[in-house]
This record gives sequence, C-alpha cells and structure tokens, in this order.
Amino acid sequence: MKTFPAMSPFPVSENVARMQSSATIAAMQAAQALRASGANVCDFGAGEPDFDTPANIKEAAEKAMRAGRTKYTAAGGIRELNRAIIDFYKREFGTEYQPNEVMTTAGGKQAVFNAVVTLLNPGDECLVPKPYWVTFPEIAVFAGGKPVFIETEETNFVLTVDQVERAITPRTKLLIMNSPSNPSGRVLPPAQFRRIMELAAERGIYVVSDECYLRFVYAPGEVFSAASLPAELRSRLCIAGSFSKTYAMTGWRVGYALAQAGWTGAMLKVQGHSTSNANSIAQWAAVEALTGPQESVSTMLGEYTARRAWLLNALKEIPGMKCNEPEGAFYAFPDVRGCLNKDLKTSEDFAQRLLEEEHTVVTGGGGFGAEGYVRISYATSMEQIQEGVKRIRRFAEKYA
Ligand SMILES: Cc1ncc(COP(=O)(O)O)c(C=O)c1O
Repeated sequence: MKTFPAMSPFPVSENVARMQSSATIAAMQAAQALRASGANVCDFGAGEPDFDTPANIKEAAEKAMRAGRTKYTAAGGIRELNRAIIDFYKREFGTEYQPNEVMTTAGGKQAVFNAVVTLLNPGDECLVPKPYWVTFPEIAVFAGGKPVFIETEETNFVLTVDQVERAITPRTKLLIMNSPSNPSGRVLPPAQFRRIMELAAERGIYVVSDECYLRFVYAPGEVFSAASLPAELRSRLCIAGSFSKTYAMTGWRVGYALAQAGWTGAMLKVQGHSTSNANSIAQWAAVEALTGPQESVSTMLGEYTARRAWLLNALKEIPGMKCNEPEGAFYAFPDVRGCLNKDLKTSEDFAQRLLEEEHTVVTGGGGFGAEGYVRISYATSMEQIQEGVKRIRRFAEKYA
C-alpha cells in the first residue's frame, strides 16, 4: 500500500501569505456575532448605506429576470450599461469616453483589483496615501508590488502634491487616490487633485482614482471627478466607480472602470478568465439606476447631511476626541488618542473595549494605516447614531 505525505499546513502562495485580512469585515463579523447573542448593538462599523435599494431599480431587475436576461453577458458588461456610464460622465463632467474605454465590473472593488493587477510587476512601487481603504495595499501586495505609504496627518489627511513628490522613486508605477475618502471622509480640493495629476503625468506615473463616493460631497464642497481633467492628464488614469453606495446597491455587485483602451483591454483579459461578467440581472438594474429618476440619491444625501451635522457636533463634546470635518462619504474619523492610556493602548483596544463594554461597533484606525483614530460610519439611522454617541461618550468619559 502506498503512503502519501500528510498535507499540513496549507501552503498559501507567497503573495497571499503577505496579505492582511480585512479589518472592516472583521468589525462587521464582530457586530453580527454580538447581535446573534441577543445584545442591543449600535453599529457604526458598516461601510454601506442603511437605505433599501430604490424600488424602480428592483423593478428593473424583476423585469430583466422575467425577460430571461439571466445568461452570460459580454465579460465587460452589456452595451446598454456601458453606454449609460459613458453618458453619465459626458453629462456630468463633459468627458467623451469611448466604448472600448469602459467596462462593467462586479463592484468597484473588482475595478480597482483589475486595474492594479494588470499594471504592477513584482517590485513595482504603488503609492498609497494614508489613511487608506484597507483593500488598496493588499491588492498591490497580491500583485507582487510594494505599497509605499504616504503620511498625510500633517495636512489633516488631505494629500498634497509635495507629499506625493517626496514619495516618488524610480520604481514608482502607480498612485491610488480616493476622494471622498474611506475612512477619513476628506475630499481633495479639485485644484490640488489637478496638481497631483499633473505631477503624475510629468513623471509617467499611473493613477487609479477610486470614486466610489463620488456623489456624496456635502455643501459647500463640490462633486469632482478626475474624468473632468484635460485628456493629456488622463492617459494614465483609471477611474474605479461603483453603484454600491450611490444607489444603496452593495449586495448587487456592480461597478465600472474607465481607462485608456490598452488598460481596459488588459483588465478584460483578467476579468474574462476570473469572474466573467458582473451579474446580468444586476447590470440591468444598474441601467435603471443611472438612467431612471435620481430623487433617491438626493433623498439619501439629504439624510446623510443631517446625520453628519448632528454627529460632528456631538463628537466635539466627547472628552479625548478630536475630529477633522469630513466633507464627503459617510464616515467621521476622530482622533481618539486623548482617550488612550496604559489600559487602552491603541485605537484597536478602544474599538474592542467599546464593543465589549458598550456593545457599540467602530473600526480601529490601524487597518486604515492611521493608528490612534477610529472610523465611525453614519450610514445608520439617526436614532442609532444618537444612542451610539451616548454610549461612546460614556465610554470616553471613563478613559479620557
Ligand atoms: C473606497 C472604496 N472603494 C471601493 C469600495 C468597494 O465597493 P463595491 O461594493 O463597489 O465593490 C468600497 C467599499 O467599501 C470603498 O470604501
């Protein structure tokens, strides 16, 4: 009888072994587990709208199912959706993307993933401004690249052209931008964005602009897309967009990438051999999202505006906390170092103890590259926000 070697432990590939698990997913799971045990949880962890997907979008999905639109589509998405994305950018930003410069993806995350893995070679440097969405450096690592972090605390998390310039080396291949930002909610002023794009163009550096929160900018801020920049600043740009936040469609998994045809061609190759098309029914729903009535977007924005105002005021009153004003997205990102002490050493400890003692979920800043801060998502009802802030305050008063 032959003997076979025992297989233990699983031989994870080198690049994947270097990746970190998602801190935001861990926070979500912790909240779920606590809720399942019957606790009354205040959840500021979720990075997704608490609103239901608008009815007209759901109806479009039902119609698509009944019409038998349930088969494979082109890997890069149905023509109607790609056309609707092109028309949206033309209407809003005056930019004429061509059909071979757009592709539909399974969420904005897949757009970022496609863009990064098609560009980076092992050892290439990828600039990631701090604080960053947890996924950015991990995709660069997956591709064999080297994330190079840019500190932005001195400018209250608003990236400057000088900070980018100081981080560039001969190995720099890519810069990942994200405005409005998850987790800080900060929005890069358009003129500053443009100067960074000019520098990238001068140095031949590619840029991924993650615009998943594009439409969530609060007055007097302005919605700005890198798509509105002149063509000579866009040849090395990939925009990653999403339906998840704008239309409360996180579970449907639809997003898109806009880039020069050479880049989208490479991304199509990767997507065609991995996931193929985004869900066909969700694609038809996304056509309705972009071309149908837009009132739901302004209603959600109005609600976020009210919650944000209330939350920012309330955070000012909490001892030990300091919070920059977030101009966009639906996150506040306070500095909680004033609450840390020898028992509560890090913002991760802060989040963990807040969960245990007050059944309230926030996400520690370490996973976003900003230890000392916590992310508070206000994509939850005003009632939950008010109750949760009461609990955070009680907690902070104990430790500050
Ligand atoms: C900055 C950023 N980019 C991309 C995504 C991914 O969104 P999607 O659901 O479209 O994959 C998220 C989701 O939290 C995000 O915060």
